[in-house]
Amino acid sequence: MPLVRLDCTKCGRPHDPGRVLNLCECGGPLFARYDLDRAAKDMRPGHLALREPTLWRYDNVLPVEDPDDRISLGEGFTPLLAAPRLGHLLGLPRVFIKDEGGNPTGSFKARGLSLAISMAKALGATDVCLPSAGNAGSALAAYAARAGLAAHVFVPRDVPRVFVMETEAYGGAVRTVDGLITDAGKACAEQARASGWYECATLKEPYRVEGKKTMGYEIAEQMGWKLPDAILYPTGGGTGLIGMWKAFEEMEAMGFVGPGRPRMYAVQSDGCAPIVKAFAEGREDAPMWENARTLAHGLRVPKALGDFLMLRVLHQSHGAGVAVSDQEIVQGVKDAASSEGIFMCPEGGACVAALRKLKASGHVSPDDTVVLFNTGTGLKYVDAMAPLW
Ligand SMILES: Cc1ncc(COP(=O)(O)O)c(C=O)c1O
Repeated sequence: MPLVRLDCTKCGRPHDPGRVLNLCECGGPLFARYDLDRAAKDMRPGHLALREPTLWRYDNVLPVEDPDDRISLGEGFTPLLAAPRLGHLLGLPRVFIKDEGGNPTGSFKARGLSLAISMAKALGATDVCLPSAGNAGSALAAYAARAGLAAHVFVPRDVPRVFVMETEAYGGAVRTVDGLITDAGKACAEQARASGWYECATLKEPYRVEGKKTMGYEIAEQMGWKLPDAILYPTGGGTGLIGMWKAFEEMEAMGFVGPGRPRMYAVQSDGCAPIVKAFAEGREDAPMWENARTLAHGLRVPKALGDFLMLRVLHQSHGAGVAVSDQEIVQGVKDAASSEGIFMCPEGGACVAALRKLKASGHVSPDDTVVLFNTGTGLKYVDAMAPLW
């Protein structure tokens, strides 16, 4: 495991990874850096087939030193499913769905929290906390239970009840907060400071993004080390978008892929689309989105710490932001379910709706190979979607 240091994504300052860390002194998120020459020697694409079917198959570019420190429930290496019937519906013959619904705790949040909790435990933390729209909280609590750590989760008061029950079932303490995830984030940070808990909010600790980046490695491996033309990602805090981009850079440095990159599309709800708006306005950061509302709770992030990183990815990849309505999101869920047998979370449905828009606007053409993300199971959102069903 060739982790060598953590670099600040804002000021570039290097940090020693041997202790629990949050942001750089300048406020920038930290990125793990590896000895990629060594990783490239130990992790040849041709040999990966024999490795375990979880994200830990890429352990040469993950930060956990000792395999005994892994806190795992079998996360990652999810199916990349050809979706010809959905593709036919949209007029796009080469559509694939990266289906994250089968992850432990039912969403892609398992990836990041497996890494964050493994590192938190290895570095000596006893209590972990984060603000959540639901899925991150239950994943934190599940991995904390497996690690024997105490989990504290701060959620908006209107979070679907299933997430509270699930988190509490894993032994996590849930605090509901009036307002949005940004308000929950403030309460969480205050309590973490007062109690000495390790804060694992999106991009505030360095390792969730390392778990999420494995989605980029998986897409490359599952496509025979040829990246698709376009990737659609439902974007809240943006760790997956940022993580996959990091993965592509690492893979190029190791010689696994060439310099070509997919166009990255950040999909948001038109009730909360700060990244879409900021990109359209050519900004380098995204101001707070007022009165955020959408039934896709994971997309209801009015201000993200990693806004500048997401916007950079959209620019560098020649991608864009796409906003869709809640009604279109529900139609997207229905389309994926009836054509491909996948009951998506609303965030996944948003990607189906966004792909329809990108086809209509000419951003995506029938020649393109497209990967869209379903980031979780729809089963936890039945009540949330019911009013628009
Ligand atoms: C199902 C689902 N999809 C997408 C997202 C957004 O993910 P990110 O914050 O990494 O952008 C979330 C976040 O809560 C989520 O729960």
